[in-house]
Amino acid sequence: MLSAQHIKEKILHYLDPEVREVLDIGRYLITSGGKGIRPLLTLMVCDALGGDVEKVLPLAVGIEYVHVASLLHDDVVDGAQTRRGKKSANVLFGNQACILTGDYMYAKALSLYARYGNLQSVEVLSDAVMKMSQGQLVELRSLGQLIDMGTYIKIIDYKTGALFGACMAVGALMAGRRDYWDFYRVGILAGRAFQLVDDALDYSGQEERLGKPVGSDLAEGKCTYPLICLYPILGDEVKALFYEGRHDELRRKVLELGGVDTTVRRAQEELDKVLDFLQGLGVGEQLREILVKLVQRES
Ligand code: IPE
Ligand code: IPE
Ligand code: MG
Ligand code: MG
Ligand code: MG
Repeated sequence: MLSAQHIKEKILHYLDPEVREVLDIGRYLITSGGKGIRPLLTLMVCDALGGDVEKVLPLAVGIEYVHVASLLHDDVVDGAQTRRGKKSANVLFGNQACILTGDYMYAKALSLYARYGNLQSVEVLSDAVMKMSQGQLVELRSLGQLIDMGTYIKIIDYKTGALFGACMAVGALMAGRRDYWDFYRVGILAGRAFQLVDDALDYSGQEERLGKPVGSDLAEGKCTYPLICLYPILGDEVKALFYEGRHDELRRKVLELGGVDTTVRRAQEELDKVLDFLQGLGVGEQLREILVKLVQRES
């Protein structure tokens, strides 16, 4: 397999803008230590299915551009201050330049897909980006509300799951699989597990390890799984904490009632579906390991 360093070099290499701001903002984020899990997943799926890893590399890079673009936009939308353990790009470079650099990255990703992929790969990536933006919009309109479980799952499947779906689908497609949309659907479950853990860590994690503050979801008015799964046992007085903005008390209550543990268990269940699918194909141990790490992130 290709080393993480090699992949990162390619991510910097393909960006290739004319305008300085794209390079400054792109380099700032790309060199600030993201986990790089999406390009790795893309490459590993392709490898496990007998495809040529070198051939899929520019497409794995494109996936990371979409991810970085979504982070740039997400931090503007969420009014975030910290990302990857540093000041978020919106704080340092301003909202406008971050939005526009994000646009560049989305287009660069599609351009790589047009050149190194095929029409099916462009369709997969476009579908993921359309789902991401719509997931973010549904989340935006739901802020400040105690949303139901169906709405929550739709939000996370779209805003996060779809890009994991694209990772698995593109890896499969470039390995010559005709059933790549099945990989897309299963990848969405992997992304669902990943976002469930992200939402759990927002309650129970440590800022130094996460590289972003804990408790920001409630502070932004975001109602996520650790809280939603407790609805059946929550009294109205606890729900009132949400509407009254008493976030610290609510966070403690959710932890005390086991909302985080239930969330991590649900993430594991989602991941098991992905592992079963791969087992059915007799696919490699390395790929299973990286997927398990999605859920076993340290808090
Ligand atoms: C952050 O994704 C956005 C979510 C979908 C939760 P990552 O946790 O993969 O971010 P980096 O790339 O490692 O910083
Ligand atoms: C993931 O949601 C957003 C993206 C798909 C970019 P969050 O808003 O929870 O992501 P973080 O916690 O800021 O990384
Ligand atoms: Mg955010
Ligand atoms: Mg967000
Ligand atoms: Mg989050």
